[in-house]
Amino acid sequence: VNKIGVLTSGGDSPGMNAAIRAVVRTGIYYGLEVFGIMRGYSGIIEDDMFQMSSRSVANIIQRGGTILKTARCKEFYNEEGRKKAFANLQKRGINGLVVIGGDGSFTGAYKLSKEFGIPCIGIPGTIDKDLYGTDFTLGFDTAANTAVQSIDKIRDTADSHDRLFIVEVMGRHAGYIALHSGIATGAEHILMPEVNTTIEEIISSLSEQEKRKKLVNLVIVAEGYMPDPSNPKIKGANEVARLLEERLKGLEIRVTILGHIQRGGPPSCIDRLIASRMGYHAVESLLEGRYNVMVGILNNNMHYTPLEIAIREKQKMGEDWLDIVKILAS
Ligand code: F6P
Repeated sequence: VNKIGVLTSGGDSPGMNAAIRAVVRTGIYYGLEVFGIMRGYSGIIEDDMFQMSSRSVANIIQRGGTILKTARCKEFYNEEGRKKAFANLQKRGINGLVVIGGDGSFTGAYKLSKEFGIPCIGIPGTIDKDLYGTDFTLGFDTAANTAVQSIDKIRDTADSHDRLFIVEVMGRHAGYIALHSGIATGAEHILMPEVNTTIEEIISSLSEQEKRKKLVNLVIVAEGYMPDPSNPKIKGANEVARLLEERLKGLEIRVTILGHIQRGGPPSCIDRLIASRMGYHAVESLLEGRYNVMVGILNNNMHYTPLEIAIREKQKMGEDWLDIVKILAS
């Protein structure tokens, strides 16, 4: 490997720039040529890439988003698109790829490595933290902190009015932002796709709390939470509010959907550190011939998960967290 490409793909996340910087500077340190690829896999198909220097990544470690831009590239799903991409990589002599993104992005990397033998390394970049083989993903810590700051503000007004607030946080199929921000803000309920909490359970606990004259209630809902998993169309905070209002007539509920605010902003210190560490080890891994793996951190050690496993498996939520939620919210 002497010429590598780096790209960001899927939803952006704070820390992606810090990872790009680490890949570029480590690559150059070891004498590699490093190419920045624009808009994820679209940039390979359209041959939109440029050689990067140490200076081209100056002053970006503190910036959210990604200087390489990102996309969810439909064309790359079919073999035709990938053939075009391979031809462009070959033309430029790029013989290694670092892909920063989530499981969808790793699927593309896995296919490229399998079909054309391009050595690929994945760096976990998603605010959802739903990847197997790593305790950290870029952007999760920042997103959870953004959610905590916003929920603290909502609690002030909820408390003044003795109201029930339902706050929706991101997480397409994962409840980690909900879990972490919910515990950290003392939420009464945390609703996540991983746990089958029914509306009935929430209603009975609200009635219980009413008897105890507990007036302020914060319910944190992951966007992917479904009160009835057999009906996937009904999900998220608005639906939870509708179902509760139907049953508890007269209850005043307000809904806040935090949305994409959670994807932006300067990365936290942790996100900058893990991005730097993962970026450095991604290049080392290519140089050592450890190909087609996702670079992760488990128990403060680097951990390498084959891409095909990283795509297939999901991170398991620690059971103790669920007990902690139940006990501390009472
Ligand atoms: O995967 C990150 C994420 O922010 C999810 O939490 C969310 O469901 C999704 O991306 C939103 O994607 P988009 O910005 O394309 O609407």
